[in-house]
Amino acid sequence: MPDKLIIFDTTLRDGEQSPGASMTKDEKVRIAKVLEKMRVDVIEAGFAIASPGDFAAVQAVANAVQDSTVCSLARALDKDIDRAGEALKGANSARIHTFIATSDIHMKMKLNMTPDQVVEQAVRAVKRARKYTDNVEFSPEDAGRSDEDFLCRIIEATIAAGATTINIPDTVGYNIPHQFGATIKSLIERVPNSDKAIFSAHCHNDLGLAVANSLSAVLNGARQVECTINGLGERAGNTSLEELVMAVRTRQDVFDCDTNIDTTHILAASRLVSSVTGFIVQPNKAIVGANAFAHEAGIHQDGVLKHRETYEIMRAEDVGWNTNKLVMGKHSGRNAFKVRLTELGVEFDSEESLNDAFRRFKELADKKHEIFDEDLQALVSETQTEASESIKLVSLKVCTETGEENTATVVLSVDDKEQTATAKTSGAVDATFSAISSLVDFEINLQLYSVSNVTQGTDALGEVNVRLEHNGRIINGQGADTDIITASAKAYIHGLNKIMAATDRAHPQI
Ligand code: KIV
Ligand code: ZN
Repeated sequence: MPDKLIIFDTTLRDGEQSPGASMTKDEKVRIAKVLEKMRVDVIEAGFAIASPGDFAAVQAVANAVQDSTVCSLARALDKDIDRAGEALKGANSARIHTFIATSDIHMKMKLNMTPDQVVEQAVRAVKRARKYTDNVEFSPEDAGRSDEDFLCRIIEATIAAGATTINIPDTVGYNIPHQFGATIKSLIERVPNSDKAIFSAHCHNDLGLAVANSLSAVLNGARQVECTINGLGERAGNTSLEELVMAVRTRQDVFDCDTNIDTTHILAASRLVSSVTGFIVQPNKAIVGANAFAHEAGIHQDGVLKHRETYEIMRAEDVGWNTNKLVMGKHSGRNAFKVRLTELGVEFDSEESLNDAFRRFKELADKKHEIFDEDLQALVSETQTEASESIKLVSLKVCTETGEENTATVVLSVDDKEQTATAKTSGAVDATFSAISSLVDFEINLQLYSVSNVTQGTDALGEVNVRLEHNGRIINGQGADTDIITASAKAYIHGLNKIMAATDRAHPQI
């Protein structure tokens, strides 16, 4: 039997630190449920002390998830540890992940602490965390640029204090694969009590090496990898879960360990994270990009038709791509709708939300002849998101005529009260956004607007992404509809709802 490689997913914490990727409590719970279904071992649900919203999200994930361990991040401070312990009370299996910076530059310039003080604070934090759970992870932040002798010292001390996982972060994505692997090997060899903890890798992708560095760590003894769906994360992102898991699974001749992951849920998780955050997956992204299994060159197509393995090293269906993509039409019944969504990993928390989604499905089927998996996922995402929003689109009327100004009249329901506004400008989308903004009393700057098609054909759902800025905070909004002006209005309203839900929060690396 190969060793077990633990998958620690931090999409909901480090992934969410990406500007614009903030998620609501309900969105986090939806993603956590898919991660659980995928058999992720540990889900880092957030940074409980960062804000009341983060606390509530960690708590909600802890209560919703049964099979995965739920984790909260905490600086090496009493108040952080207590808040994390509190938020995780309802978890079936809980982990506290505490950290403090160990590189000379961080200790001097950020913490203004001596190495002795840093060790003392780390030990104290681990001991305090052990009062809440016997599953405690310690990370020497910026380990990738820390002195190795000092790392050995702090790791030995924190394991002695009760840390059961030692995570080695390359916080700034500075390391190179052979060097990062050598560091992991050397730490495991040199720390006298290293056999009492699992060693873990946490890599950032600033040089495009996060997956390579993590794999090198695994080859050198790491038995946990921290990663995110689609590689989401600050700056250039974190190690991509799907790439790491499929590299280890596909090359079992190279790795003497394997994960528990049910890879058939990978695509559904990727799509959900992309639609919740508005971070579009590039077509040539490994495993989950639209072209990942598409063969354009005639010679490749010919080879694949004769014998698939001539050009394919993985099977598309093993990561959730469905070869039979046409799923439903206007005559499909409620049961078939529900069964297909269950296969896609979507669950409904009530009969009412299932009925609402089914009603929207019928409306869509009237406009669009063929309904694909992607359409169903977009539709359900919208149904689940809208249920908890305070601003809702009631109706939209747009008049456009060549050479004339465009007029948009929008009716919104704001906290269950209907309000109407009209705006006239040179563009239909611009007039729609102006009418909507006139009904909310805060400043918003539109930083990015993009449209893409969810599936093929002129009757396809158009998916709009907007990036809004409010008081220095960046939020992404998404909306889908067969009419792209309506999709634009939905995306804008989605962003506004997120701005209203957002609260000030601390950042763990400050
Ligand atoms: O990148 C990093 O150092 C982190 C730590 C908090 C583990 O995210
Ligand atoms: Zn990180």
